[in-house]
Amino acid sequence: MKFRNPTDFTIGILGGGQLAKMIGMEARKIGFNVLVLDPSKDAVASTVSSLIVGQMSDREKLSEMNSLSDIMTFEIEHIDTQILREVLDTDKVLPSVNLLEIVQDKYRQRTFFQKRGIPVPVFKELEDYRDLKGCIPCVQKAKRGGYDGRGVVLIKSKEDLVKAIKEPSYVEEYVDIEKELGVIVVRDRNGNVKVYPVVEMVFKQEGNLLDYLKVPADLEGEKVKEAQDIAVSAVEVLGGVGVFGVELFLDKRYRILLNEIAPRVHNSGHYTIEACETSQFEQMVRVLTGLPLGSTYQYIPAVMINLLGEPGYRGKVVYENLDRVMEIDGVYVHIYGKRETFPYRKMGHITILDFNKSRLLEKMAKVRSLIRVKGEIKDDRNNNG
Ligand SMILES: Nc1ncnc2c1ncn2[C@@H]1O[C@H](COP(=O)(O)OP(=O)(O)O)[C@@H](O)[C@H]1O
Ligand SMILES: [Mg+2]
Repeated sequence: MKFRNPTDFTIGILGGGQLAKMIGMEARKIGFNVLVLDPSKDAVASTVSSLIVGQMSDREKLSEMNSLSDIMTFEIEHIDTQILREVLDTDKVLPSVNLLEIVQDKYRQRTFFQKRGIPVPVFKELEDYRDLKGCIPCVQKAKRGGYDGRGVVLIKSKEDLVKAIKEPSYVEEYVDIEKELGVIVVRDRNGNVKVYPVVEMVFKQEGNLLDYLKVPADLEGEKVKEAQDIAVSAVEVLGGVGVFGVELFLDKRYRILLNEIAPRVHNSGHYTIEACETSQFEQMVRVLTGLPLGSTYQYIPAVMINLLGEPGYRGKVVYENLDRVMEIDGVYVHIYGKRETFPYRKMGHITILDFNKSRLLEKMAKVRSLIRVKGEIKDDRNNNG
């Protein structure tokens, strides 16, 4: 693709949440136009882009996106690809609709990678969820529609069987996890690849939600290379063009296995905005617009925490102690701009930098003791339903 004047070039994004907003900010910086499609008129990306209000399945709105955009991408993978095929010029969509179809079905994704020699947990299709009692411990996963821990059931004992998913699913070995790792991989139309450092993701017990991440991960050089190689191979066998968030497991036997791949910028790559020469969001803009890929060099160690809506609150959001947190050097606050909070809703994130790793963790502890995302309405239902 020949590079054109940014001001004559429009990037269309399906979905107008925080990922689209952060891509939009980078696109705007270089001078491109941005257009998003989102069901909400308050979509947070609309603060940096034009907005079409409509469902992802609205043929008329999709067709409008298609005619107004020079290139298109998506920030969520749960989109009806049949409709995309009917309405869009699919060669204007990156990553490709084909790729989206492979990864949006987790079972198909697993099968695809296994056949191509990428190490994955042992898995098999589940005909009937009642068969689960024969394979404890194991992990059951819905084929479609899962994210942030929904659609995944960890079955450690018989008591967990009541949580079994009744929709189409598969079952896989319960990996004895030493660490969960993340690697962002970028690949352009010509097959040029850039890979970021390995991130260590620390999860909360409840809800499988990310607690914090640190980068570089505490890992031997050899294992770092192995994780990056697996991540790059996964993107290459997909023929992926775009930015990919690759999630991996390091198990207690020091095997590295691919867990899943997200065909988009990823929460585990937010640290790249402040800590690396080129952020994952700018890389996405570069891929979309045919610009050369940027350096992924990390200047300084980083940790990142998500700002989640505190359990017990909903309604109009109230941030406590933002000012006190921002008094600390090397603390970067990102507020996505969602008006309403609910328990565990992703409202923003904070990246913290320091050359000294123990000081880095001290700063994180300080930040966490201060920051609170509350809502005007007290509510002790503690769920997001
Ligand atoms: N096979 C497995 N063995 C052990 N834990 C797992 C396994 N698969 C997933 N998990 C745990 O569940 C979390 C969510 O699973 P994942 O497949 O990544 O779904 P999601 O789409 O919600 O991110 C993982 O980050 C990990 O902590
Ligand atoms: Mg995951």
